Amino acid sequence: MKIAFFDSGLGGLSVLHEARLALPGEQFIFYADEDHVPYGTKTRAEVQGFVAQAFDFLVAQDVKAIVVACNTATSVAVAEMRHRYSIPIIGMEPAAKRALDLDGEHRVLVTATPITVKGNKLKLLIEHVDKDHLVDLLPLPQLVEFAERQEFKSQAVYDYLAKALAPYELSEYSALVLGCTHFNYFKDTLRELLPPNVSFVDGNAGTVRELIRQLEVRGQLEQGEPTVDYYYSGRPVTEAKELSRLHAYLERLDRMRRI
Ligand code: DGL
Repeated sequence: MKIAFFDSGLGGLSVLHEARLALPGEQFIFYADEDHVPYGTKTRAEVQGFVAQAFDFLVAQDVKAIVVACNTATSVAVAEMRHRYSIPIIGMEPAAKRALDLDGEHRVLVTATPITVKGNKLKLLIEHVDKDHLVDLLPLPQLVEFAERQEFKSQAVYDYLAKALAPYELSEYSALVLGCTHFNYFKDTLRELLPPNVSFVDGNAGTVRELIRQLEVRGQLEQGEPTVDYYYSGRPVTEAKELSRLHAYLERLDRMRRI
C-alpha cells in the first residue's frame, strides 16, 4: 500500500524528500492542491473544504497513511480528518518546541503562513512550550507565491525577506523555525540575511519519524520498489515537462538540506 503526502502546493515536497531518504522501499503519492494554492491567505472555511476534497481523493486510493505536509492544513483541518478516517494521519506543526529545547535562553522566530500564525493550534502550542516568552511569530505569505512560481533566488525574494526581518534584533535569536513547508526553498537567501547565531529548525525529520513509528506499530513498513505518483488536485501529473519541473524542485531541496 502507498503512503500519501498532501500539501496546498509544492512545499510538501520537502517532507516527501526527507521520507524517501528514510524509507527507500516505500511507494508514495504526492498530492499538491495546485488549483487552490495558497491556503495561508484564504479563510479557514475555504481551506477546510479543500482539505476534505483532497482527503476524499486520497482515501479512495487506498493509502496506508496520509502525511499532511502542510502546517496550514494541519492547523485548520487535521482534527476533523482524524475524526473522519481511521488510517494514520500525520500532521505538521511549527517546530517551536524543538527550537526552544535546542537553546532555551535566546529568542526564537517562528515563521509560518497567516492562517497558522493566527490559529488557535499554534497559540496553544506556544502557551504550552514557551514559558519564558521567547517566541515571536512572523507570517511570510509571499514566500509561498515565490516558491510556486519557481522564483527561489532573486532580488525580490531578498528584498522581501530583508524587509520582513528588519524589525528584529537578530543577535538575540538562536533559531528561525520554518513553520511552512514552502519556506525550505529559501534557506540560502535566509542564510545570507541571518547572523551565524541563528540556526534553522523545521519539522520535516520529526514528521517522518512519526510516520515510521505509526507504520511500525501497525507492521506496515514495506521494502519494495520505490515509486512516487504525483497529482495536482486529483489529476495525475504525467507530462514530461511537468515531471522535470518537479525534479528541479527536488534538486533544489537537496541543496537546501545541506544549509
Ligand atoms: N505549505 C503550507 C504550510 O506548510 C502552506 C502554504 C500555503 O498554501 O499558504 O503551511
